[in-house]
Amino acid sequence: AHANLRAVTSSDVEHFTSILSPSSVLSTLSPVSTASAELDSFNSDWMGKYRGRGNTVLKPRSTAEVARIVKYCNEHRIGIVPQGGNTGLVGGSIPVGAEGQEVVLNLGAMKDVRSFDPNSGILVADAGCVLESLSTYLEPHGYIMPLDLGAKGSCQIGGNVSTNAGGLRLLRYGSLHGSVLGLEVVLPDGTVLDQLSTLRKDNTGYDLKQLFIGAEGTLGIVTGVSILTPPASASINNVLLALPHFDNVVPLYRQVRRRLGEILSAFEFFDRQCYDLVLRHGQQPALPSDEVSDAQAFVLLETSGGHKEHDEAKLGELLEELLGAEGDAQLVTTGVLAQSQEQFNALWRLREGITESIGREGKAYKYDISIPVPKFKEAVDTVRERLRERGVLGKSPGGVSLVLGYGHVGDGNLHLNVVADSYTDEINDALEPFIFEMVSGYRGSVSAEHGIGSAKVDALKYSKGDASRLWMKKIKDLFDPNGIMNPGKVLPP
Ligand code: FAD
Ligand code: MLT
Ligand code: ZN
Repeated sequence: AHANLRAVTSSDVEHFTSILSPSSVLSTLSPVSTASAELDSFNSDWMGKYRGRGNTVLKPRSTAEVARIVKYCNEHRIGIVPQGGNTGLVGGSIPVGAEGQEVVLNLGAMKDVRSFDPNSGILVADAGCVLESLSTYLEPHGYIMPLDLGAKGSCQIGGNVSTNAGGLRLLRYGSLHGSVLGLEVVLPDGTVLDQLSTLRKDNTGYDLKQLFIGAEGTLGIVTGVSILTPPASASINNVLLALPHFDNVVPLYRQVRRRLGEILSAFEFFDRQCYDLVLRHGQQPALPSDEVSDAQAFVLLETSGGHKEHDEAKLGELLEELLGAEGDAQLVTTGVLAQSQEQFNALWRLREGITESIGREGKAYKYDISIPVPKFKEAVDTVRERLRERGVLGKSPGGVSLVLGYGHVGDGNLHLNVVADSYTDEINDALEPFIFEMVSGYRGSVSAEHGIGSAKVDALKYSKGDASRLWMKKIKDLFDPNGIMNPGKVLPP
């Protein structure tokens, strides 16, 4: 329970209903009572790992409505959990307090594009716009979103900003700290902070919006986003490469960067277990199985450029060089260049389908870490060995079936996932704080792109020292003295 907060009552619900339209208030306490099963999807996370006990879900349609709700909750000490597409992987978007202590404020009904300037590529959108729908909106204008991730069909731009989501294009277009030009945020006292700038350059004092990028809803509610979108490339290609062992990934990355230069737009890695896993869950093999039987690692690279012939010539030369190499210079076993849009999509599905396949295989213990790329395999092997020593690897029932590595090589971001039959204390205790200490030993980050949420609160100290945590807490208290915004997330109580 959150000591500073009280539970929602039926009179609160009555008040919410006076602010919002009745259909925008789902509550077990409302006069036309909502069955608690109807709230299930808002109370459980994407992985089915975390369960909240919220009794009220609010779906405002405007910034003004958000502001009125927040002001009321602040005055009445009711917690608020902002929720976008609820695809987060660290238990940040569902309540963790006692029953009814937090309302879920779902942004899904705020989904309009506010403006788009086809000269500058600057898009201003409501926070609840689904990422993929923004990509679709931009398509006829010849622009793309600067970020892309496997959850694109559900995640929202406000959620992306609030988690500072990375994803598959960060290598090329950088982080949201660079591409977000402005934000509109409802602060915990109900003030609307209008920083929805569409300026590329604006050095007028502190850049407050940066605080909300990656704040995971602990400082306010993002209601609008202004973002710089890049022009769509005329020519896009992708290639899947099979590597005999992980050690070749780094030299391959160097060679690819040198040869492809500015047209490289993604360089993703997944290990053998991931490849077998996605095939087991329905993806089509991209390469003949006898040709990849010895491959221990796979790399998916993408190019996006302005000139088809030029790009394809570059890519062709690179592939010739890679596939023709001999002896120590031979970094790849085999590879395939997508020949059609369908094949292009199929290659991407091998990589993007990993998360969902893990979910189908079992329960995932997810670690999203930044460590030096040459250490990726060592980290996965170390964790596997640890689980073996603890006697939980291969144990059935209740044991670990897989330890996998995949991720964003260009960003130094490894996804280390442990898949088991169930979530148990035995497995958890074997993994934590072991993995966090390992990451700290590499001087890495315990959360590269998914955030802290409720899952990694105790791990924050492995990546942020005492002074950093103290100043984070001071900022939190300054914005949210009553502790109503996403309580129990990011910072330890
Ligand atoms: P939610 O899950 O609803 O919320 C996430 C956090 O943000 C919560 O703390 C919530 O309180 C807060 N929040 C949400 N909306 C707001 C708002 N408007 N104002 C204030 N706070 C808010 N992440 C990556 O970084 N890279 C990836 O490549 C990636 N791939 C994924 C693939 C799959 C298949 C899945 C399921 C997830 C993936 N994720 C990835 C994680 C997740 O999709 C991202 O974190 C995403 O940005 C979350 O957006 P959302 O709208 O679903 O937010
Ligand atoms: C990814 O890169 O696939 C996402 O971050 C999701 C995950 O870690 O599973
Ligand atoms: Zn990722």
